[in-house]
Amino acid sequence: MTAAIIDGKAIAAALRGKVAGEVARLKRDHGITPGLAVVLVGNDPASEVYVRSKSRAVIEAGMAPCDHKLPATASEHEVLALVAKLNADPAVSGILVQLPLPPQIDAQKVIASIDPMKDVDGFHPVNVGRLSIGLPALTPCTPTGCVMLAKSVQPSLGGLDAVVIGRSNIVGKPVAQLLLAENATVTIAHSKTRDLAALCRRADILVAAIGKPELVRGHWLKPGAIVVDVGINRVSGEGGKSKIVGDVAFDEAKALAGAITPVPGGVGPMTIACLMLNTVRAACALNGLKASL
Ligand code: GUN
Repeated sequence: MTAAIIDGKAIAAALRGKVAGEVARLKRDHGITPGLAVVLVGNDPASEVYVRSKSRAVIEAGMAPCDHKLPATASEHEVLALVAKLNADPAVSGILVQLPLPPQIDAQKVIASIDPMKDVDGFHPVNVGRLSIGLPALTPCTPTGCVMLAKSVQPSLGGLDAVVIGRSNIVGKPVAQLLLAENATVTIAHSKTRDLAALCRRADILVAAIGKPELVRGHWLKPGAIVVDVGINRVSGEGGKSKIVGDVAFDEAKALAGAITPVPGGVGPMTIACLMLNTVRAACALNGLKASL
């Protein structure tokens, strides 16, 4: 079998188009322009790239960008004061504080200071808790995108065995909660898991979010499995040129899986599309409106 390649770029583009349509409706019918505030502290090059692409997507969707850059030496107090200002600003529908933060700043304290209704990352303890007890919540962007990609090839995940490799607060744990909410039977594997290969072989859906290049080999997969690869790892390729690979050995996996997300072009584009979705949903909820997405 050769796996179907799940085109994250195309699925994300379609979602961003729907978000732009909803933004246009909010402007036309209610005079509301959703706004996303992105806070970057310091100058981590990878974070700068992410923040730029988020701001570009905000503008493309017809929403209002509101970028704030603080120096790497900013104090926790300064960041908390900025978040308080954004919480109170009616033009701001969503707040994202780019992680990681410099060591003098307690990231959990900053996340907890964001108004849960504007928490478009879905990282606030209120949203984490609401997701875990099955209440409507803003849900983390990468995990939401992973589940959308799996559902693009298998609309009903009910009863399927899902294995998530990785237990981070940003991806592993929330993707497990979202899969559980879809009625999958979920196992979370991590660095202490015994016989990871045998566990993976039981998975109808495998989500790899460990950050280890090509850790998951083709022979670890159940034939026909849906493989969602969250990894973005830079490795040296042929001729000393660097290239990006996922957490799954793609060419091996393609021969056995039923469907697989490529890296790049799989999960990555979905993260930003889901951030746009969360921002428009937050704008609706803050204004007492029902989102049509
Ligand atoms: N850093 C890496 N991924 C993320 C994310 O999804 N949200 C935020 N705020 N920071 C990140």
